[in-house]
Parts: sequence; structure tokens; C-alpha cells
Amino acid sequence: MAKTRNLLFEPCISDISFDFLEQSKLYSYQAKEYSERLHAVMSSDYFMKNISHHSIELGFCDEYDLLTIDQLPPLAEALNQLNQERNSQRNYDSEELVSFQDLSRFLQLSYSITQRFDPTLFIPPRRNIASGGGLYPIDVYVINQHISDLPLGVFIYDLFTNKLKLIHAFKNREELKVALNRTLFAEQKNDIDYINASAFMVLGAELERSCFKYLDRGIRWAMLEAGEIVHAMYLASAGLELSTCAIGGFNDEALARLINFQNPSQITLLALALGK
Ligand SMILES: Cc1cc2nc3c(=O)[nH]c(=O)nc-3n(C[C@H](O)[C@H](O)[C@H](O)COP(=O)(O)O)c2cc1C
Repeated sequence: MAKTRNLLFEPCISDISFDFLEQSKLYSYQAKEYSERLHAVMSSDYFMKNISHHSIELGFCDEYDLLTIDQLPPLAEALNQLNQERNSQRNYDSEELVSFQDLSRFLQLSYSITQRFDPTLFIPPRRNIASGGGLYPIDVYVINQHISDLPLGVFIYDLFTNKLKLIHAFKNREELKVALNRTLFAEQKNDIDYINASAFMVLGAELERSCFKYLDRGIRWAMLEAGEIVHAMYLASAGLELSTCAIGGFNDEALARLINFQNPSQITLLALALGK
């Protein structure tokens, strides 16, 4: 008789994938060179035109004009408007801050359970984003900088109970400042107004949640899912008239430590600043 295997306890991520994940991390000693490279690309008309205006060259082929999208049904029109409004906003008001209500709405519109588990029908719980195999490898963390009604600290967003759970409380603003410098290079980079952002979101993946089923391919699904969540965050922010910007350049190891990650299969994928 075939031996029953518990796939949950078998290694599922290859050494080569771990090497790739390690290779793609950013460390503080690389931050200067990394931002110089970014600056070189962004300050050059040549690179920006050639890269961002690219399209796949097919030569001669039949073409069909799509129809215009006026007269949309109301929900589609709402999405159309959100698409027009969504953008990356890097400057935040120092007077008007994100409130706890703004944050609560932002989190629930970005990432939430849309259908609870129904044991009678065996319908698994569903969320507002699609997930490879419904395994949901991403967790959302919040670093509070200026939201009153919440302590200065790091929280995990528990979407099952709709709570923020405090995993680290900063003793004072100085400790928070040091943490933001260490993790997001806040003082070393001038891309975003780190000082006036009310809070930062961190998208962290537990890769084993998807890799135990999909092996190394599950890493792709986790990355795609972080993309879905960050996009939902952009749309939520547009809908709530908040300002947000994704942050790709951060110290992976330091940020992982801040959110209490302990294993190599737990990686930080993206951060996001939130303000008004
Ligand atoms: C994965 C990812 C990482 C990003 N990292 C940064 C970043 O570190 N700093 C920044 O100023 N913008 C960052 N952005 C924002 C992009 O620069 C922005 O989305 C792009 O220029 C298009 O502009 P838009 O979002 O306003 O349409 C990032 C966006 C994504 C999706």
C-alpha cells in the first residue's frame, strides 16, 4: 500500500530558488549603487521613451479597432473612474493625516474575505483577490507612523477577525525613525516623502503556503498575488481620496526582521506608503 505522505512537512522550495531569492534581495551596502542606477534611468529621456513607449513589433498584420467604452453599467463606470484616478503619489500633507477610519476602510477595501467558509456546502472562504489554488500566501503588515488611535508600532492585519494585531511597539519616535531608515532607507532616498506618510504597508509572503502544492512554481503565484493586493490598495486609495505609492527599494532582511519573519521561506515582496 502506498505510504501516506504529508506534503505539508516535506521541503518544497529548491536550493536554486532560494539562491534566486537571496540574489534578488537588496542590502544596505548596495542601496547607493541601486539608487544611482534608478536615477540614471529615470533622468534619461532616451531610456524612458524607449522603454515605456515600447510595443511588440509584429510587422504587417490585420488590425481591428476596439469600440469606445462609453455608456458603461454603473459598477463598470466606477471601475473606469478608479482607473483614471489611480496613480502613485509621493508627497503627503503634513497637517492632514490618515485617520484610523481611513486605514480601516483602506485595508478592508484592499484585502478582505468576501465569502465565509460554509461547512454545509463545503464552499471554501474567498477573498476579493484571486489566488493560485486559493492558498493565499501573502500577509499584510502595517507600520504606523502618524495614525492617532493606534500606537506607534508594527501590526499584522488579520482579515479573518478584522483586527490589527500589534507585533512590535516602538518605544518612541526615535526608535521608529531608526527602523524606517534601516528598513526603507527613508533618509537615504528622496523618492517619497517618508516623513509625512501616515503609515507604511508591507506585503510579506510565506512561500511554503503555495509551494507545498505547486513546488517552485508557487513562488510565481505569491509574487503575482502581492501584485494583485498592491493594485487593490491603489484602487482603494483612489476611492478613499488617500495618497499612496509602492516602494520597491528596501532592505529585505531588515524589513523581514521588523515584521518578525523567521524562516527563509518568509520574504518581503513590497512596501507601500500611505498618506493624505
Ligand atoms: C513593484 C513596484 C515598485 C515600485 N517602487 C517604487 C519606489 O521604490 N519608489 C517610487 O517612487 N515609486 C515606486 N513605484 C511606483 C512606480 O514608479 C509607478 O507605479 C510608475 O512610475 C507608474 O506611475 P503611476 O503609478 O503613477 O501610474 C513602484 C511601483 C511598483 C509597481
